[in-house]
Amino acid sequence: MRPVRLMKVFVTRRIPPEGSAALARAADCEVEQWDSDEPIPSKDLERGVAGAHGLLCLLSDRIDKKLLDAAGANLKVISTISVGVDHLALDEIKKRGIRVGYTPDVLTDATAELAVSLLLTTCRRLPEAIEEVKNGGWTSWKPLWMCGYGLTQSTVGIIGLGRIGQAIARCLKPFGVQRLLYTGRQPRPQEAEEFQAEFVSTHQLAAESDFIVVACSLTPATRGLCNKDFFQQMKKTAVFVNISRGEVVDQDDLYQALASGQIAAAGLDVTTPEPLPTNHPLLTLKNCVILPHIGSATHRTRNTMSLLAANNLLAGLRGEPMPSELKL
Ligand code: NDP
Ligand code: DGY
Repeated sequence: MRPVRLMKVFVTRRIPPEGSAALARAADCEVEQWDSDEPIPSKDLERGVAGAHGLLCLLSDRIDKKLLDAAGANLKVISTISVGVDHLALDEIKKRGIRVGYTPDVLTDATAELAVSLLLTTCRRLPEAIEEVKNGGWTSWKPLWMCGYGLTQSTVGIIGLGRIGQAIARCLKPFGVQRLLYTGRQPRPQEAEEFQAEFVSTHQLAAESDFIVVACSLTPATRGLCNKDFFQQMKKTAVFVNISRGEVVDQDDLYQALASGQIAAAGLDVTTPEPLPTNHPLLTLKNCVILPHIGSATHRTRNTMSLLAANNLLAGLRGEPMPSELKL
């Protein structure tokens, strides 16, 4: 009997158990993994991917022309454990006929939940308040102390009413939000109907919202979208939240807007770079809450993402329909 040729798969990090188990069960694949919780150095990635048929990667791995060249002509499938695909050189990948799997939907609720947590943490100043309890700043119940901004009767603006943007709108509405505004490349009347959300220009959204949540994908059009002009249009009492990608925001402009009181506060789950250096100026501001990109970080969600990514990879390698294939 002729020996069966195994397909080589390279995995760029330790991944949650359900995904690992699915790959381990694949008798037609030989799986090599970067066995660490920390990112793989680029030299090791280039070595690991050489000759691979399948690559399972994370949003922190930059899959560019150089890496695709290092992989060589065998590479047929790239499966990322993320819904965001801005780390992938999609034009180059398409040119080479490589299929791409990603993980939409399964992380939508976890990410919306985190976005709402971050919004409330920021607008009600929870980190500052917790600190005051610990440092003795809590001397009495004081009518003018630790006041923030609430959602009741507010206007919320969502940049990108996609899967996560809609889930955020759904979570926020019951807080008594009065108006919901959104932007995007074009109106989405069907999706907007559920929230009676109004499609507006970026300018109008910035000027009229009390809370702004960025939930769009990172593209050439959204890179740097929230810049000095944008923050200048915002109300002085408005709160800005970004859960999409750090590069959508010009962080120097955001720092100026927060430090000068141009806007009230910001909550960021994503930054540029990641991790944000511990001496970054934004970390000196009381009115800026920064989280380490944990939108999808629930045990169940990460496990489900890893299983979906493994199944995308295996289906792609076997020439079958992927559960979640990105149409290129
Ligand atoms: P979707 O594709 O469903 O939504 C993307 C949204 O981006 C769409 O509403 C789209 O609107 C909008 N968009 C695209 N271009 C523009 C533009 N020029 N101006 C304004 N909006 C634009 O993706 P998901 O909702 O599933 O995910 C969105 C993003 O969230 C991901 O790409 C990822 O970067 C980020 N994310 C972050 C997480 C975290 O841990 N913090 C977790 C998961 C995702 P339209 O098509 O109408 O133009
Ligand atoms: C994504 O999936 O794009 C997030 O940023 C991480 O879950």
